Amino acid sequence: MTDGPDGARRRAVLCISGPNLQLLGTREPSVYGTETLAQIHARLEGRAAALGFEVACRQSNHEGTLVDWIGSARVDGFGGLLINPGAYTHTSIALLDAVRAVGLPCVELHLSNPDAREPFRRRSYVARACTARVAGFGAESYVLALEGLVRVLQRSA
Ligand code: DQA
Repeated sequence: MTDGPDGARRRAVLCISGPNLQLLGTREPSVYGTETLAQIHARLEGRAAALGFEVACRQSNHEGTLVDWIGSARVDGFGGLLINPGAYTHTSIALLDAVRAVGLPCVELHLSNPDAREPFRRRSYVARACTARVAGFGAESYVLALEGLVRVLQRSA
């Protein structure tokens, strides 16, 4: 990943997806659609390239792995974060603290609209550390979140 002066670093973003999102495509398609995570990542990489950015896409079911990736994002050369924390959205103070600690602009994203679902999905811990949130556009949420993050990074460049 690009390293070096701040300007160069800002053109690389890290996209992290949390638990159960490796099952996209077959997981509750009426809620999450039929696109696989690999297809979403390919689309995101294409859009990032068109915007002159690089995006690295990762997924893990493990909270500690997500915390590690967030925590090292700055030294790994990323200028911003896209995070779909899955169910950890609603439970994880560790993810909230990690995003706060790394201090990079972060857009929270969801395929579904958690606010329109069960009441326990209405609370997002990580939201308190995020610049913005995109939710409810299905797989398009990833692309829209990237476009928003790119604007934030360009504004602060
Ligand atoms: C999700 C919404 C969460 O509530 C849920 O636990 C997920 C997926 C979404 O992308 O819509 O795993 O983050």
